[in-house]
Amino acid sequence: MSDDTFYVTTPIYYVNDVPHLGHAYTTVAADFICRFRRMQGRKVHFLTGTDEHGQKILRTAEAKGMSPKEWTDQIVPRWTEVWKALDISNDDFIRTTEPRHEGPVQRFVQELYDRGEIYLGSYQGLYCVGCEAFKLEDELVDGKCPLHGVEPDVVEEENYFFRLSKYADRLIQLWETDERSVMPETRRNEVLGKVRQGLEDLSISRVSFDWGIPLPWDEKHVIYVWIDALQNYITAVGYGTDDDRFSSIWPADIHLVGKDILWFHSVIWPAMLMALDMPLPRTVFAHGYLQVGGEKMSKSKLTGISPHDVIATFGSDGYRYYFMREISFGLDGNFSWEAMVERYNADLANDFGNLASRVLSMITRYFDGALPEPPQPDELEGSDRSLMSVHEHALSDMDQAVNAVAPHQAVKAAWTLVKKANSYVEEVAPWALAKDPDQRRRLEIALYMLADTLRQLALMTSPITPRAAQELWHRLGLEGDVEQRSFPADGGWGRLKAGTKVRTGDPLFPRLDEAS
Ligand code: MSP
Repeated sequence: MSDDTFYVTTPIYYVNDVPHLGHAYTTVAADFICRFRRMQGRKVHFLTGTDEHGQKILRTAEAKGMSPKEWTDQIVPRWTEVWKALDISNDDFIRTTEPRHEGPVQRFVQELYDRGEIYLGSYQGLYCVGCEAFKLEDELVDGKCPLHGVEPDVVEEENYFFRLSKYADRLIQLWETDERSVMPETRRNEVLGKVRQGLEDLSISRVSFDWGIPLPWDEKHVIYVWIDALQNYITAVGYGTDDDRFSSIWPADIHLVGKDILWFHSVIWPAMLMALDMPLPRTVFAHGYLQVGGEKMSKSKLTGISPHDVIATFGSDGYRYYFMREISFGLDGNFSWEAMVERYNADLANDFGNLASRVLSMITRYFDGALPEPPQPDELEGSDRSLMSVHEHALSDMDQAVNAVAPHQAVKAAWTLVKKANSYVEEVAPWALAKDPDQRRRLEIALYMLADTLRQLALMTSPITPRAAQELWHRLGLEGDVEQRSFPADGGWGRLKAGTKVRTGDPLFPRLDEAS
């Protein structure tokens, strides 16, 4: 299993507008997980992209006086530039308007049709274009979609249906036997409860507009945007175009999604794959909402904040750190500027940044910037050993947290080493040792240990704050890209060469004043 590709996906985002913090939240979490696994030596495939068909995009384009393709072509770069600004390390970016997606989607639905999994029927019901989903009366609040605050459209048309109801028992069995199939557990119980109440067949085509992929056997229908979109996870990795590549990457290890789209990913998607006897994703993980004033941040409610506005103050590292650390992944969490400044100053500027500058300037002051000789095993004292043991625990806790899809725990674990290193500085007080010529060797060992800890921290924080980690790597006199290193191969102690020149410099995380 371990040489198997670790495949992580984000949802593909609707391009009716530019991204806000809520979208970036999923993408940053996925990026952290991928960077961490890469540094553990895993072969990773990280996919994100854009969902470009359907009425929501069509209506947006019409309102702007453009064709839907013109609209999507000009807005997609607004998404990719945000991912770049946040140092997102995706291996691929799929657009659902690409031929590599459209053709294979047709092949997939044709196969479902050929197997008798799709039939013609008629639909009468309510449709929310904001959600791109049919709604039942009891899902509405005062007749309106609770997420978008608008009355759904009444739809009555001839549609093709997928025999979703047939898969209820197999889905229930999957969730009951595989606790990683849907995470966290509360969400698994939620879908279990819903499906136990019954599952209806699903309308999978529309005839009243044409912005979508036509059904191959009946071209006046376009494929329902969700059926089209879900398949990005397989078309991007070669389904229908490159079978070898497909079987080397699929199934996904984690589909990261927000809780609003869990139903599509945990019910509809696996059922479609079951219908074609294809392997199922190993985990669908649903996280909570990023909220502003207690409500889901959204453009339609004018609470969407652009990631650029936040990056301008906190940098990409500060941004990534805050969202990963502050919000328990899986639960809803509030975004507040004040909390962000506070967290940044405390954890990044003070705890991590000051640690780095103190250590590097003491090496500069006491050893003219050249690293002293590493300690021999018999020179290590209790304080040194305890520093090393915190490192060992921190790394294994990070691994367990990533396994549990809990980035906030992983970041917390890394910071146990930051905190420990700070208390080591206080405990060994290098400035006091420096005054006593008999303690010269002890001073060397303490500062070597601290430089070595910074090296470990550069490795461990690279998936979280990649820019600062790289800068720290260079200041320690190390060459190349820290993100190309790995924990098992490069994670040992004593690998900094004596005599290497370290560099001080501007603060890694300049302090922000409270009013920024
Ligand atoms: N296009 C579909 C997904 C198709 S995947 C095959 C879609 N797009 S979306 O742009 O509306 O949302 C994409 C993701 O952003 C979802 O996981 C959603 O939960 C997430 N978020 C949007 N607003 C959010 C918050 N305020 N907070 C956290 N995540 C939120 O749905």
